[in-house]
Amino acid sequence: MKSLLQLDKVDAFYGAAHILHGLTLAVNEGESVALIGRNGVGKTTVVNTILGLASMRAGTVRIGGETLARPRTYMAAQRGVAVVPQGRCIVANLTVEENLQLGAAVGRKGPWSVPEIYKLFPILQERAHTPGTALSGGQQQMLAVGRALMANPSLILLDEPTEGLAPVIVDQLATIFNKVAAQGTALLLIEQNMSLVVRVAKRYCAMAKGSVVAEGRVENSRAGLHDLEAHVMV
Ligand SMILES: Nc1ncnc2c1ncn2[C@@H]1O[C@H](COP(=O)(O)OP(=O)(O)O)[C@@H](O)[C@H]1O
Ligand SMILES: [Mg+2]
Repeated sequence: MKSLLQLDKVDAFYGAAHILHGLTLAVNEGESVALIGRNGVGKTTVVNTILGLASMRAGTVRIGGETLARPRTYMAAQRGVAVVPQGRCIVANLTVEENLQLGAAVGRKGPWSVPEIYKLFPILQERAHTPGTALSGGQQQMLAVGRALMANPSLILLDEPTEGLAPVIVDQLATIFNKVAAQGTALLLIEQNMSLVVRVAKRYCAMAKGSVVAEGRVENSRAGLHDLEAHVMV
C-alpha cells in the first residue's frame, strides 16, 4: 500500500512550548483514519507541523515517500495533501466561487472542478456569488471541503469539520466524506464527535499529551463507539 503521509517520531514546538513528543502517524492510499483526543492534546499541531506552522525540531514528515526537511505551507497541497482547517478560514472578501477557485491554485490535475463541487454541494451553486463568510456555518464548512477538493488531493486533512454544527448538517457531511472516500481520496479526520468517526473512519489513532497512545480498527457498533469515547472523555 502506498504511503501518502508519514510522521515519524516528530517533536514540534511553538516557540519554547514543546507540544508534540515523538509523534508517529501514517496514512496510506485510500484509507480513512480518525485522529482523536481531548482538547489541547496537539491534534491541530499535527496539521500545523505538516504545514510548517509549528516548528519541527526532531523526526521526519514524509508526503508520498518524499521527506520534507523543512515543511512549508505550500508544500503539502502541491504534493496532494489538502487541508480543511479548524475554524474553516473562508476568505471574507471573496465570493463562494472565488473561495473554491483558491483551492485550484496549486494546479493539480484531477476529477474536481467548480461544476463537480456544485454537484456535490448544490447549495454552493445557489450562493456562488455571495461573499463566503455570509454563508451559514454548515455552508461555510461545505465550502471549506469544496475548496480542499479543488486541489485534487490524494489525502484531505479535516480538522474538526463538524465543530458547532447541527446534527442534520453533520449527517450531510458524513455522507459527503464517505462519497469522497469511496471515490479514492484518503481522509485524516480529526474529530470529537465519535458517532461521526464510526460512520466514516476505518482506523483510529488516539492522542494524549502530544503523542499517539493507542490505535486500532474502528468498529461501527455500540461497543466500538464506547471504546473511542474513552479517549476523548474529560
Ligand atoms: N500558537 C500557539 N502558541 C503556543 N501554544 C499553542 C499555540 N497553539 C496551540 N498551543 C498549545 O498547544 C497545545 C496543543 O494545541 P492544539 O494542537 O490546538 O490541540 P488540539 O487541536 O488537540 O485541541 C495546547 O496546549 C495549546 O494551548
Ligand atoms: Mg484543534
